[in-house]
Amino acid sequence: MTRRHHASDPPARIGVVVDADTRRQELERRAAEWASCERCALAGSRTQVVVGSGEPDADLMFVGEAPGFHEDKQGIPFVGQAGRLLETLLGEIGLSREQVYIANVLKCRPPGNRDPLPAEIESCQGYLYDQIQLIRPRVICTLGNFATKLLSGSPLGITRVRGQAQQHTFGAVTVQLFPIYHPAAALYTPAMLEMLRSDFAALPALLAGGGAVAEAVPQPGPMSAAAAPAAEPEFDDAQLTFQF
Ligand code: URA
Repeated sequence: MTRRHHASDPPARIGVVVDADTRRQELERRAAEWASCERCALAGSRTQVVVGSGEPDADLMFVGEAPGFHEDKQGIPFVGQAGRLLETLLGEIGLSREQVYIANVLKCRPPGNRDPLPAEIESCQGYLYDQIQLIRPRVICTLGNFATKLLSGSPLGITRVRGQAQQHTFGAVTVQLFPIYHPAAALYTPAMLEMLRSDFAALPALLAGGGAVAEAVPQPGPMSAAAAPAAEPEFDDAQLTFQF
């Protein structure tokens, strides 16, 4: 007899689910469950929970920061300007957003697109770890500081670690973690866009198991809050305060 999964099952059980169809169904089932999450105060201000989107059996997964204005309305991650840039960069390496899986550290929009709070990350991180167990990507691209620090388990910021693959094991899943700049950071900073583009160019080899190391690019100096991308009107979906 097939045993049904229960909400109270510990996350470790996911590690024994191998078949892609079963993992796909389990991800859908859990997403429906997570839609009513009330683990933190963001439940009171969100329009909806934004779990993730894309191919549930993807080799490549992206992890951003948190839903912004448009994501909160549509229930899909990276649908604003940063998302369009992400799609363009994916297209340049021959991939579409339907072929990858896209998620965020937080599943609910912080009011006014402020930074995620440590307590919110703590409450929400279990969902991301469950997604990793179910999707089983080979490569996880962390977009910006919040995702990079959470999944690398290191306080080193994105400017220090970008473009260098790190091997990490999450439960039953070993991945190449590949930190890159958040596309929202590159929207108004051409030098950052070029670095992002060069990091994207390293992805096909990394996916093929080549363990590529991104081309060494001069790092920008520390960026003050004043030098960070301005909060222009069209930038409201980027919800990022950059900390380099
Ligand atoms: N949209 C998202 O879904 N996540 C981000 O981090 C930025 C924009």
